[in-house]
Amino acid sequence: MIRKISFTALLLLLLVTKSCKKDQYISPTGGDEPKAKLYTLEHQPWYPQFNLPADNVLTEEGVMLGRMLFYDPIVSGDSTLSCASCHRQTKGFSDQRRVSKGITGQLGNRQAMPLHNLMWNKLFFWDGRSKTLREQVLVPIQAHDEMNMNLYSLVKKLSNTPRYQTQFKKAFNTNEIEPLHLAKGLEQFLVTMISFNAPIDKLWGRTDTLNVISASALRGLNIFMQPTEMGGADCFHCHSNIPFFGINSLNGSMSNNGLDLVHTDKGFGNITGLSTDIGKFKIPSLRNVAVTSPYMHDGRFTTLEEVMDFYSDNIQLNSPNLDINIASHAKQLSLSSQQKADLVEFLKTLTDTTYLNNPALKNPF
Ligand code: HEC
Ligand code: HEC
Repeated sequence: MIRKISFTALLLLLLVTKSCKKDQYISPTGGDEPKAKLYTLEHQPWYPQFNLPADNVLTEEGVMLGRMLFYDPIVSGDSTLSCASCHRQTKGFSDQRRVSKGITGQLGNRQAMPLHNLMWNKLFFWDGRSKTLREQVLVPIQAHDEMNMNLYSLVKKLSNTPRYQTQFKKAFNTNEIEPLHLAKGLEQFLVTMISFNAPIDKLWGRTDTLNVISASALRGLNIFMQPTEMGGADCFHCHSNIPFFGINSLNGSMSNNGLDLVHTDKGFGNITGLSTDIGKFKIPSLRNVAVTSPYMHDGRFTTLEEVMDFYSDNIQLNSPNLDINIASHAKQLSLSSQQKADLVEFLKTLTDTTYLNNPALKNPF
């Protein structure tokens, strides 16, 4: 079922370096020592290919470095908060709090996003303000309302910590830790966070669907996919992501799904400065959504049932910049309670318990 992938960058490297081809080890700096072991990613064979950054070949040592950094409060200003404090594995790497709490206890204004299948994303954060994962990872560390850490102080702190001296050396063959190494290490770990084992993933190409998901979930899937003219809810036009809603829109779409009439948080509009982008937010992946409560950029809904009530009856049809996929219906969906229950059952089939318990993603300390 599961394909091992080799990436273009990797292939090139293996082709030009004969010895590497033989033992699957590379030298991160092109020098002789030390050698790091190539890391192999796994996902389902029908998932679209993605490109890894050519200058950051995945290695066991680099991924482990990123994993250590992800779970270590050393990266925050007062050493109390790690990435994992807000991105919890059992919660699909999201936060149970409505909005996140930074090191001094101050509250942010956005819900922590679940993390998975990030390499398929084109934009990061609710407002799409980062274009690459590399650019993204250093943001929370420095953000005043999150970890409030100066990168150069952090580099100094890490350089004085023996286990990081060793791990940076193993991963990047360097005695001089730089912010770029930090970003690359975290990037490597985040790339390995691939979720591909939800019940919905097992549906692909099968005719005995009821052995995989329940009759209710199957009805929910149809409602999700079908246009409103055919009695569906047309969720698919926005949450259309291949494979099975696990990946944010391939073009990184930003959209206003009609939560508000007045946008206190301007979202994408703050980034582009365009009035036509005000109120647009990243269309989130719905993978693992049953465990990532609360919902929406500001965590306003606690349950999936509340989300279904919103889509059924409470969309602000006069919201400025309302997405055409909703505006074109020009009325509420008015779903029946059975339809709402079926949609929720379907959303539960996107829960990947293998991912939520994957030992390779757990705290390494
Ligand atoms: C204080 C809580 C908090 C901490 C600590 C934190 N994050 Fe986040 N994370 C958030 C919030 C909130 C968002 C959404 C922010 C926004 O959109 O403005 C987010 C968004 C993200 C995203 C974007 C996901 C997407 O789909 O666009 C990534 C990736 C991420 N965080 C990784 C990290 C990493 C790596 C660390 C550690 C270096 C970290 N976070 C530390 C709260 C936190
Ligand atoms: C017009 C595009 C669009 C349509 C149609 C749409 N959604 Fe959404 N959906 C979004 C956007 C954008 C968000 C995030 C909005 C925000 O936080 O401001 C979202 C958020 C969600 C969330 C919360 C996810 C989270 O992690 O917080 C769920 C669940 C959801 N949608 C399910 C559905 C279902 C079910 C349907 C069909 C009834 C549907 N959506 C139709 C665009 C859409």
